[in-house]
Amino acid sequence: MNPQAEELNRVIAEHNPAILEMLSERGKNIFFPKKGILGQTADAKGTRINATIGAAIEDDGSPMRLEAIASKIGLDPSLVFPYAPSFGRPDIRARWKSMIYEKNPSLGNREISLPVVTNALTHGISMAGYLFLDEGDEVILPDLFWGNYNLTLGNAYGARLTKFNFLKNGRFDLASFESQLNDGNIGKKVLLLNFPNNPSGYSPTIAEYNAIVEIIRESAESGNKIVAICDDAYFGLVYEKGIATESVFSALSGLHENVLAVKADGPTKEDYVWGFRVGFLTYSIKDGNAALYSALESKTAGAIRGNISNSANISQSLLLSAFNSPEYHKEKEAKFAIMKERYEAVKKVLSGGKYDSCFTALPFNSGYFMCVKLAEGLDGEEIRGLLIKKYSIGVINLNNLLRVAYAAVAAKDVKDLFEGIYSACLDCKK
Ligand SMILES: Cc1ncc(COP(=O)(O)O)c(C=O)c1O
Repeated sequence: MNPQAEELNRVIAEHNPAILEMLSERGKNIFFPKKGILGQTADAKGTRINATIGAAIEDDGSPMRLEAIASKIGLDPSLVFPYAPSFGRPDIRARWKSMIYEKNPSLGNREISLPVVTNALTHGISMAGYLFLDEGDEVILPDLFWGNYNLTLGNAYGARLTKFNFLKNGRFDLASFESQLNDGNIGKKVLLLNFPNNPSGYSPTIAEYNAIVEIIRESAESGNKIVAICDDAYFGLVYEKGIATESVFSALSGLHENVLAVKADGPTKEDYVWGFRVGFLTYSIKDGNAALYSALESKTAGAIRGNISNSANISQSLLLSAFNSPEYHKEKEAKFAIMKERYEAVKKVLSGGKYDSCFTALPFNSGYFMCVKLAEGLDGEEIRGLLIKKYSIGVINLNNLLRVAYAAVAAKDVKDLFEGIYSACLDCKK
């Protein structure tokens, strides 16, 4: 093992040996090379003649650039054309950290790591897999989950996705969650929670949120070492009262020495920048301190350096300028109002029970999506095809659940959308 990786492992073990048990073999071996090209370049910053990094510089010292590109961009070239660090730009990392505290007030003063920038959430989840999953390790997650976990965690790291029953009688199935978490031998457990959930659009009530946290606490007290990955892609889009608005990461952060909370989040959905490709990985554990977090950040940045090297500078700079804009919060509220209007339009159309003979809605209260469960005998694939051909309507079929991304549908079209699904169901019944 490289001595720099050994040193990071020593810092981690000295602080909390449970975390060393949670790391995968890859995770134990990785480190951010202090004396690599990036490290040596950082040492040379500010020198008179700097011939370190592989990026060209104009004679006036500014980044070399093509006018065809620069002329389209209002930002200073220094914020756009050079590489960003593998850890991410320090300014946006600090800002995102303070935003995590603002959005999750119950974190209080509990210390969390400095977020490391990833190439959006998919990549953050992949890097969490790199650090915490060995071939054959189990990932415990709800049976309604984002299908791309199969590729990011299953195909990429050989993890086994083990599902608990997510919803029962319109509620989070706490009993199924508890028994799956505690199934098998005491040891390392990797848990993946995604609220608001894709595909169902369900977030736990406050009581369920607290119960989920208690179940994790008891499991940790019994000796399990739990890596709790919180996929917060749709954070902030909660449309009903009584539903938890904070990330589970908040409550898990101070919970127990055996629970490492890993927050994968980012502006992709929160700030409507799907193509920007910026996300963050942030860590927290009870009594975590700066040295521990710095070691975890270095491992994460090392994994990123060996994978995509770094994320786009222009996206990070644009986002930071938006976060610092006085208009930012007002503009977000306006978009939230549009999303909520669409949510309410869906609730209204479904409220009469007109479609119940063909489909019923799974519980939903947040996010971008909702699902309808087709009545016995109806085939989701047939209906999906018919919807495209005859009604010019697109939905996703997930084993006879139809996932409806109402976030992408104007409120005025919501009725037509469900009427179309209903008609297609009736066509198929004939
Ligand atoms: C639950 C969930 N996590 C992560 C992602 C991916 O986010 P990103 O585009 O930031 O990689 C999605 C996107 O559909 C998602 O639904």
